[in-house]
Amino acid sequence: MGLTGGLDFTGDWLALREPFDHVARAPVVTAATLAHLATRPTPRLVDLGCGRGSGLRFLRPRVGAGARWRLVDRDRALLDHAARTLDGGDEVELVTADLRGDDLGDVVAGAHLVTAAALIDLVDDAWLAELVAAVGTAGAALLVTGSVDGRVAWEPVHPADGDMVAAYARHQAGDKGFGEALGTAAPARLAERLEAARWRVTAARGDWNRVGDPALQRAYLAGVVDALAEHGVAGDELAAWHRFRRDAVDAAASRLTVGHVDLFATPPEV
Ligand SMILES: C[S@@+](CC[C@H](N)C(=O)[O-])C[C@H]1O[C@@H](n2cnc3c(N)ncnc32)[C@H](O)[C@@H]1O
Repeated sequence: MGLTGGLDFTGDWLALREPFDHVARAPVVTAATLAHLATRPTPRLVDLGCGRGSGLRFLRPRVGAGARWRLVDRDRALLDHAARTLDGGDEVELVTADLRGDDLGDVVAGAHLVTAAALIDLVDDAWLAELVAAVGTAGAALLVTGSVDGRVAWEPVHPADGDMVAAYARHQAGDKGFGEALGTAAPARLAERLEAARWRVTAARGDWNRVGDPALQRAYLAGVVDALAEHGVAGDELAAWHRFRRDAVDAAASRLTVGHVDLFATPPEV
């Protein structure tokens, strides 16, 4: 998921969620991706907004040796972290680029698979159109995972959960550096765009499902509360909700479900 607001893209947050993102991946989408790549003896993959390399760490053992990777992010420190965790084997190119300003066609050129995890909730509809066009022109397949779809459930429930979740979804639709972000509407919009252009699409839920881990829940909660406080969401109500949620986590009585969508697609002519 592409949280912004109180949660930024620091290596700490990305490291914390990585194992949960990997467990959440929809098996049917992973299977479609691997079946597609199996037809390429030396697959070339481009990971957009790769962060510290989570996508590579998920796919690499499944794709097998010999793949070529291009990891793309605007944050050099995250790319350097990704590089430090590599253990040789595949060819990996690190590219510092601003996906908003730079030519996407150049960034994805030569790819068999373009992938992006926890990214598209940050972008606007025009950028999605550019992405579909650029990946289609490259004749590549597209794998977009971990896109938040707005379903969030906390256990135990609190009467203010619905208001807080809705307020946070509104925040996710603000400007995140890519114009007016689609936020939780992004995965449905991407599927619509691809289907309209006659891509073959496999999509499925890839949720964080009833996660009990206290560190992940605390970080997520802090991010939500910071963002809502920034937006001036009812101070007393927010404080009471925060206290209730925090106490439940401290008592190891809390679980968090965050809905994500994973999607794999191939262009009509592939
Ligand atoms: C939520 S993180 C996801 C990171 C990684 N894909 C993962 O699953 O752990 C979003 C990533 O997109 C990158 N990003 C955001 N805006 C970007 C832009 N305009 N150009 C390039 N990268 C960008 C951030 O630096 C960050 O690494």
